[in-house]
Amino acid sequence: MDTLTLKSYAKVNLYLQVLNRRKDGFHNLKTLFERIDLCDSIILKARRDRKIRIISDSAEVPKDETNLCCRAAALLRDRFRPDCGVDITLIKHIPVAAGLGGGSSNAAAVLVGLNRLWKLGISVNTLDRFAAKIGSDAPFFVHDAPFASGSGRGERVKPLSGLTRVRFWHIIVVPRIKVSTPLIYRKWDEFSGLTPPKYNVKILTSALKETTVAGLSRYVYNSLEPVTAGLYQEVGAVKDTLEKYGLKTILMSGSGPAVFGIVPSRKEALLLRSKIRNRSWRTFIARTV
Ligand code: C5P
Repeated sequence: MDTLTLKSYAKVNLYLQVLNRRKDGFHNLKTLFERIDLCDSIILKARRDRKIRIISDSAEVPKDETNLCCRAAALLRDRFRPDCGVDITLIKHIPVAAGLGGGSSNAAAVLVGLNRLWKLGISVNTLDRFAAKIGSDAPFFVHDAPFASGSGRGERVKPLSGLTRVRFWHIIVVPRIKVSTPLIYRKWDEFSGLTPPKYNVKILTSALKETTVAGLSRYVYNSLEPVTAGLYQEVGAVKDTLEKYGLKTILMSGSGPAVFGIVPSRKEALLLRSKIRNRSWRTFIARTV
């Protein structure tokens, strides 16, 4: 085996409560991740030399060692010294800097894939620690779970095994703006108009099993939503549009600007998408995976 093709999935946060700023500049949070089938493709091809190369069809991702895929590969190469390198081909579908975890997911897929391609025999727990060095969302993708809670800066992940049968459909709307995550967290530090959540992750987790998708609206929460919406009016405009078409459970994911709605069926997601006329918004339909 010298070539491997992998799917690198996106995520949405059904819950994201920022707790406090830490001394290292990161923020402690409580979150609930959901993996969705919107995905990039990654092809790993072993090289005879020890070089790491990235090839991508996307103009939006760096093609040098700053790419998160290259950083992930370099971490494993420098620690485990395999006698080969890798060509990484990255085919992007997940919007970049949108709050959907694309970069972290790509890095996690490279870690998982190289563990097999380079026959390293590393445990999930070790891969998790390498993933945490790359991005706060990356460990979630190493764990191969549809739902998981996250704490610390998001990197302490617990797969939610009670939710293995739960599946949702989503419409995801992404305005054509790039949002800087560090900027949103900095603005959160200054922000005073925050409404605290009424419910916690545990209550949301139970509701995910028991409640209708419309009934979930009161349990989903994102501390960063008012911050990003305060800087970019598109976020509010997307929410208003989805609400106008009768959607109840609507939330921004991560630091945005992607906004998702939870709908009962693919049919409803398609119908909703056909009604959205704003040409400067990208729309996706995705399911829990
Ligand atoms: O870990 P990640 O690369 O996603 O973080 C990007 C930036 O977002 C960090 O450098 C930090 O400024 C901010 N961040 C934070 N607290 C978190 C996650 C991210 O302050 N829990």
